Amino acid sequence: MSKNIHTAQQYWDVRSDLFANYYKKPSLFDKTFRKAVYVRTAVVLKTIKEFDQPTVLDIGSGPGVNSVTWLKNTNAKFLLGIDFAESMNEYARKHAQAEGVGDRCKFIAGDFMKHDFKGEKFTVSAACGVLDYVKESREFMQKMDAVTTGAFVVSWPENGLRMALRRYRYTTPVYHYDEAAIRKLHEGLNIKSLEIMPMQGGRMSVARK
Ligand SMILES: C[S@@+](CC[C@H](N)C(=O)[O-])C[C@H]1O[C@@H](n2cnc3c(N)ncnc32)[C@H](O)[C@@H]1O
Repeated sequence: MSKNIHTAQQYWDVRSDLFANYYKKPSLFDKTFRKAVYVRTAVVLKTIKEFDQPTVLDIGSGPGVNSVTWLKNTNAKFLLGIDFAESMNEYARKHAQAEGVGDRCKFIAGDFMKHDFKGEKFTVSAACGVLDYVKESREFMQKMDAVTTGAFVVSWPENGLRMALRRYRYTTPVYHYDEAAIRKLHEGLNIKSLEIMPMQGGRMSVARK
């Protein structure tokens, strides 16, 4: 039987509670098999802390749980979250208010690839769990480079059993990357260094300017 295929926007628009609960009410399964979700939060947090009063762009901010963690644990002066799934943004706005950081952030609906930032730049930008759904990864990285002044951080899923299971279960296309592909996607970008670290199910990269 063929399955329905959705865009990443349609797929994520009905999963804000589900995704938020990976952080807020993790099950034993989440703690065991979704460790990468917590590792990537920590890697971005550490990168934000390299800067004094940075501005942060959270690309594909989802339910905003990461955004709030980063705001509460750093002196970041402002965070902009952008996500094309509006139910995610609604969740993120409420969560940020409830956690007392609503005045330091804004969550907007939009496709990062199409959004016009009108020259606005951010000290740190992060895309956690996003490149999984991006076909035009080269263009995505070029845009991240263009809107960032300090460092940009990305999570990259790898191929393997988990990816095969996701391809079977998910109704939206998913992409994977090996280390060579990650390095190639950073070639020609305006960066001074590229750090790549392994984590469960893939890698994190931190590109510093
Ligand atoms: C797996 S969730 C991750 C959410 C959050 N970054 C986290 O790690 O908790 C991926 C999110 O990226 C969003 N997304 C994917 N591609 C996007 C794009 N091109 N522009 C804006 N949002 C995007 C989806 O709507 C979804 O909410």
